[in-house]
Amino acid sequence: MGQLFKSRRFDASRFDRILDVGSGAGQIIRHLLETARPDAEIVGFDLSYEMLKRARERLKSDRPAFVAADMLEMPFRDNTFDCITCGYVLEHIPDPFPGLSEFARVLKPGGTALLLVTENSLSGLVTSHTWKCRTFSRHELREACQNVGLEWHRELWFTRFHEMLKLGGILVEVVKQGQIDGESS
Ligand SMILES: C[S@@+](CC[C@H](N)C(=O)[O-])C[C@H]1O[C@@H](n2cnc3c(N)ncnc32)[C@H](O)[C@@H]1O
Repeated sequence: MGQLFKSRRFDASRFDRILDVGSGAGQIIRHLLETARPDAEIVGFDLSYEMLKRARERLKSDRPAFVAADMLEMPFRDNTFDCITCGYVLEHIPDPFPGLSEFARVLKPGGTALLLVTENSLSGLVTSHTWKCRTFSRHELREACQNVGLEWHRELWFTRFHEMLKLGGILVEVVKQGQIDGESS
């Protein structure tokens, strides 16, 4: 993940308000703190208050805000964020539709979500067995995103190994359809 952000293959410096959903112990927020603009707002979001506490202790930074709630009912207004990051979370909810719908609701039009999801590859099946979670095929995730108005923009890869062997999951940037405020078509 670190290389993806540092190399700017996923360039976090283009965003003003970033929400990390299922932030866990702050694995993704750590990279956001290093690569987002200093004036960008970063929010860590998790169902578990304990995980947020752990993230705050590990990150040793007062900069991110932390919110404990369910991603299926996020306490944010429509069109709030221009970026969502979400690593290894969607596979822990039985149906991705309500979660992705919430992403589409709180993202601004034109906003980006970076999704990292366990794939139905051989390594994904091991992950799924270990962590008692489901897996996705690329086709299934793409359709689920499209159904809520999140357009499959580009697939990303951590390394060539990841690409060749499909180790590490589906990593994709999706974009909320619609016009950005003030832009003419
Ligand atoms: C496997 S961890 C992922 C941590 C981190 N994002 C990463 O990339 O390693 C999954 C996290 O999602 C959180 N989570 C699970 N269901 C959730 C929900 N419905 N709403 C918000 N967070 C949830 C869990 O509490 C946990 O911290």
